[in-house]
Amino acid sequence: MESFHIPVLKEEIRHWLQPHAGGVYVDGTLGHGGHTMMLLEASAPTGRVIGIDRDARNIATARERIGETDRLSFVQDDYRHLKRILDAQGIERVDGILLDVGFSSAHVDDAARGFSFQQEGPLDMRYDTDQGQTAAEVVNTWSEEQLTHVFLIYGEEDRAREVAKAILARRRERPFSTTVDLAETIAVALGRHGKIHPATRVFQALRIVVNDELGAIETVLPQAVDALNVGGRLCVVSFHSLEDRLVKRFLKARPDVQILTKRPLTPSPLEIAGNPRSRSAKLRVAQKLGPDEIGKSKNKYNTHDRSLNNKALNALPTDHSNVPHSVEPHA
Ligand SMILES: C[S@@+](CC[C@H](N)C(=O)[O-])C[C@H]1O[C@@H](n2cnc3c(N)ncnc32)[C@H](O)[C@@H]1O
Repeated sequence: MESFHIPVLKEEIRHWLQPHAGGVYVDGTLGHGGHTMMLLEASAPTGRVIGIDRDARNIATARERIGETDRLSFVQDDYRHLKRILDAQGIERVDGILLDVGFSSAHVDDAARGFSFQQEGPLDMRYDTDQGQTAAEVVNTWSEEQLTHVFLIYGEEDRAREVAKAILARRRERPFSTTVDLAETIAVALGRHGKIHPATRVFQALRIVVNDELGAIETVLPQAVDALNVGGRLCVVSFHSLEDRLVKRFLKARPDVQILTKRPLTPSPLEIAGNPRSRSAKLRVAQKLGPDEIGKSKNKYNTHDRSLNNKALNALPTDHSNVPHSVEPHA
């Protein structure tokens, strides 16, 4: 049986996005369609969803899983082009936007995509395999300074310089072409200590830079708020502190949104037990304000919607019954 990506914080997103019949929603990171299925169900019978993903294979899986319906449009594109995508659909404003950023379990489970340092595969890591440079091109051509910067900033790898030096020394003999090849070079440079594989942080950094993940988030956020109807909501799930910080700062600086989650929502212990990959997920939610509401609220944060706070949500049962629990998408 095919294993699908398990959607994180699904009940929380249902609660905060408030999908309803007649509404129009964007799932900017369709993946295997787990969240989109929830949006379709919650907005039945007339709600509409635009499901975007850069990865053609994930779109094909979602299409096969959900089937064709005139309530759902599949769009293979980068969510950073949100305005253009909505224009092409003839849509000016939407009622809710979800971004569940990063990679899906399909990426790490398939060795041929090059995300996993535990399985031999080409050093690729692109979500869209038709565009951009591969991880191999980055490690084989970028300077020691550039690689050190990438590993330090995106991977928070303290020994970034040592890794960059080891990569340059090795590539002078022979360029890198596979995941395991790179992982072994890193393991030799850093040694093995503790449970975490020494290549974990460097692989994360490469994935972020290969797909320009922070650039995509930075570019989409203003378009997302602009595209919301008054009262419409934006939900962003991030898995990395840099992404989360970007979202937090953007929302704080934007006068026409009310932040509904003072602190980000996180998965319950039950959800983490069923889906360990969810453990670093953070959900932030904001609501679009009308012109006459801007600047009126004393507080940037909503103080009246306490119906489901983080604690209460963490007590919610999370239904994983329709998806296998075996998927643990860690490289
Ligand atoms: C965490 S997964 C989403 C999983 C999905 N919510 C589900 O329930 O199956 C993130 C997805 O976003 C896609 N993605 C990452 N960056 C993207 C971007 N800039 N534009 C569009 N899709 C992107 C990835 O290909 C991946 O399928």
